Amino acid sequence: MVQPSVPSAAIERAAALLQAGRLVAFPTETVYGLGGNALDDRATALIFAAKGRPRFNPLIVHLPDQQAAERLVAWSALADQLAARFWPGPLTLVLPRRPAAGISLLASAGGDSLALRVPAHPLAQALLRAAALPIAAPSANRAGRISPTSAEAVLEELGDRVDLVLDGGPCQVGLESTVVDLTGAQPRLLRAGGLDRAALAAALGQPLLDGPARRAGPLASPGQLTSHYAPRHPLRLEAKAVAADEALLAFGPSPLAGAAATVNLSPSGDLTEAAANLFAQLRALDRLPVRGLAAMPVPADGLGEAINDRLRRAAAR
Ligand code: TXA
Ligand code: MG
Repeated sequence: MVQPSVPSAAIERAAALLQAGRLVAFPTETVYGLGGNALDDRATALIFAAKGRPRFNPLIVHLPDQQAAERLVAWSALADQLAARFWPGPLTLVLPRRPAAGISLLASAGGDSLALRVPAHPLAQALLRAAALPIAAPSANRAGRISPTSAEAVLEELGDRVDLVLDGGPCQVGLESTVVDLTGAQPRLLRAGGLDRAALAAALGQPLLDGPARRAGPLASPGQLTSHYAPRHPLRLEAKAVAADEALLAFGPSPLAGAAATVNLSPSGDLTEAAANLFAQLRALDRLPVRGLAAMPVPADGLGEAINDRLRRAAAR
C-alpha cells in the first residue's frame, strides 16, 4: 500500500510495523530502502528473503544521528571528520562493531564491522525517530536489479513482499550512498556513490585507497574479504554422521546423534529461521573446545541458497 501524502499516522504505522519485526520500504535521498529492525535476526532474514539475494551481503544500518551511530561502533577521529561534514547525507561509514550493541550478526553477514548511515530525507528521519530502532536497509529492489528511486519502482520490485511503502516522491540523489571503510589505518573507498571521492579526500586531508582490504593473519585466503567471518575450527559440510569430538550445526527435525555439542538452525526446517540463526550459532559452536564443526545438509531453495553459499565459504576458509 502506498501512502501518497505521508501523514504522521503513516509514519506511526510504519514505525509500529518495524517494531513488530515487519518490513517497510522508505525513501532516502539516495534510493528507496527496504527496512527492518537491525536488532532482530528474523527481521533481517526476512529482508534477504524479500530481495531474493543468493548471498548474505552485509546491510547498511540506518540511524537518526551521529550520537546513535557512536553507540554501535568503535568511533574514530576520521569518522568524526566525515560525519561532521557529510551527515546527514549520502555517505555510509564502515567501522568496527561493538558486540554489546546488539545488532543482528546477519545484518553484517557475520562480520566484525558495521556499515552506518544517517540519511537526510525528512521521511527517513521521521521514521527512524518514530521507530527508535536501528534500521537495516538495502536498496528496495530484487537481487541483481537496479535500485528503485520512486515508490512506484519499489512496488514493481517488491510489491507483494513488503508490508508498507512510504511514498516520498522521487529520490533527489538517485545513486546509492558512497561507502567508506574506516576499519583500517587508512580510509578506503568501498563503493562509489552519491558523494564524490574528491569531497571525501578534501574533508579527510588525505586520499582514499581503493576497494576492500584483504584479511590479514593466519585465516587469509585469496579473495576473502574482512567482512566475511571465517570459523577457527574446520567445517565439514553435508554431514551424514558426526563424531564425538565434533560440534554439530543441525537442520530439521532429525538432528544427527553423537556430537560433542549440537545446535539446530531450525528444528522445524524453516529456512528464514535458519538464516536468522546461522551466524550466531556458527560463532557459538566455534568457541567450543572441539576438533571440528560438522553441518547437516540444508535445502538449496529460497534462503537456502544464501545459507549454503555462506557455509561453503566458511568451510573453504
Ligand atoms: O544509498 C544507500 O546506501 C541505500 C539506501 C537505502 O541507504 N542502501 C544500499 O544498500 O545501497 P545495499 O545493501 O544495496 O548496499 C550496501 C553496500 C554494499 O555494497 C555492501 O557490500 C556494503 O554496503 N556494506 C554493508 N555493510 C558493510 C560492511 N560491514 N563492510 C563492508 N561493506 C559493507
Ligand atoms: Mg543494492
